[in-house]
Amino acid sequence: MAALVQGVLGEAGTAESVVTRHLPPFEQVNLQSALNAWSAEKGRQVEVRGVALPPHYGGIMLQQLVSGEGLPPLRLSAPGVVDLPDGPGSTLACLRLALLLVTDAAGRYVLLVQGPSEHQQELTVEVAGLPVGQAQSVLGELDRLRRRLNVYRGQLLEVGITPMGAVSLTFLDRPATSREQVVLPEPVLDRIERHALGVAAHRAALTAAGQHLKRGLLLFGPPGTGKTHTARYLLGQMTGYTRLLLTGRSLAAVGSVTELARDLQPAVVVLEDVDLVAADRSFGPGGSPVLFDLLDAMDGAAPDADLLFVLTTNRADLLEPALAARPGRVDVAVEIGLPDADARQRLLELYGRGVPLQLTEADRDAAVERSDGVTASFLKELLRRAVLEALHDHHPLTAVTRQHLFRALDDLLDSTQSVTRTLLGVGVDPATLPVGSPQPAPVGAGWVAHPGRPGRRYRP
Ligand SMILES: Nc1ncnc2c1ncn2[C@@H]1O[C@H](COP(=O)(O)OP(=O)(O)O)[C@@H](O)[C@H]1O
Ligand SMILES: [Mg+2]
Repeated sequence: MAALVQGVLGEAGTAESVVTRHLPPFEQVNLQSALNAWSAEKGRQVEVRGVALPPHYGGIMLQQLVSGEGLPPLRLSAPGVVDLPDGPGSTLACLRLALLLVTDAAGRYVLLVQGPSEHQQELTVEVAGLPVGQAQSVLGELDRLRRRLNVYRGQLLEVGITPMGAVSLTFLDRPATSREQVVLPEPVLDRIERHALGVAAHRAALTAAGQHLKRGLLLFGPPGTGKTHTARYLLGQMTGYTRLLLTGRSLAAVGSVTELARDLQPAVVVLEDVDLVAADRSFGPGGSPVLFDLLDAMDGAAPDADLLFVLTTNRADLLEPALAARPGRVDVAVEIGLPDADARQRLLELYGRGVPLQLTEADRDAAVERSDGVTASFLKELLRRAVLEALHDHHPLTAVTRQHLFRALDDLLDSTQSVTRTLLGVGVDPATLPVGSPQPAPVGAGWVAHPGRPGRRYRP
């Protein structure tokens, strides 16, 4: 292998410095897209050679091949590829460890591409055989192509943290939540929409008038009232935006995610349940609270960037001091409260669709009245329980009657069931939970990751 590289480079090329670029692992699919486009450009010939390295070897440096020294037992092989999602329904075969033997206007030179592996989590591209300035130009050209072809632009992505602490991005399907499925008082939903979607519609006019586009929206209220649900609705509407979703541990990655969002703007960054990390310390050298990092990242973003931050929390009281000390990060805070009688009526209708309910007007009114003080997710769960009650009496399901609905309601409202309610996240007052205790996971809050389907192959 060393002989192959040295043969391509010749004596002069072998004497040049090797230039290395490190990239975050999630860039692997963009790098491959860039390499595919770059290799296909006119006047360039690229031969791809796979490098097989026995397990337990961390990786190689191109310098080792150029000098032929300190080499692990390597073998030339067909290039190994890892099939990575490059969209919500497609994948791209990406080189794992390969040499690219290039001939173009700059001469003959070699690229070594090394994807993240068990032993080393970084993605690296190295150039050998060119003067440093020219090697940098090659890397710069690949940067431009990566940016232009970025597969994450305009997509809905869940941000994760790998066990090694690196940021990962998973494509999600577009949420199907429609406006009429979001049961909130009209002025509340209207205000949220105006802030999130309205600015987008007036982007050009706002910029022309010298007004900033960056904005922060805080949705707060008890668990199970629809904060996540509303965020899903907004994300479903904001097609064309790069949409990044951070929950739990991944909130600590807010700094690098904000940078990514700026590169891929217009973008939305949804920070779910920020109170859960409010007091956590980040891994950084300062060990500052994650919440501060989060607010600083929001502030660091360029004001003229078309960025929307949506924060959700069950504990606005915990956030208030931090927000008050850093004004301007959140410009609109909207309380999502417990549903009023009208909303409860609409929720019963919404979640009762498809259920063979046999209720009189009076039964419905009684259910609405008796459920005063519960959350929206409680009513959703109530209908599920009523169906179960009906199935218990009669299988297959024929009708869900007043008896079934009220039995389910009695059971859920029973004071001895408060732990069950907490576990279901259907009507618990977060203020009664000790600070820092895990919050209940709301029913049906899961975001569905797209499994991805096999698709295109790398092209060189
Ligand atoms: N305002 C609402 N309108 C319609 N459905 C709702 C509403 N609030 C909650 N739900 C239902 O309850 C589930 C849990 O609510 P969620 O949005 O996760 O609550 P949280 O406010 O804790 O984020 C949602 O997936 C949705 O099905
Ligand atoms: Mg939520």
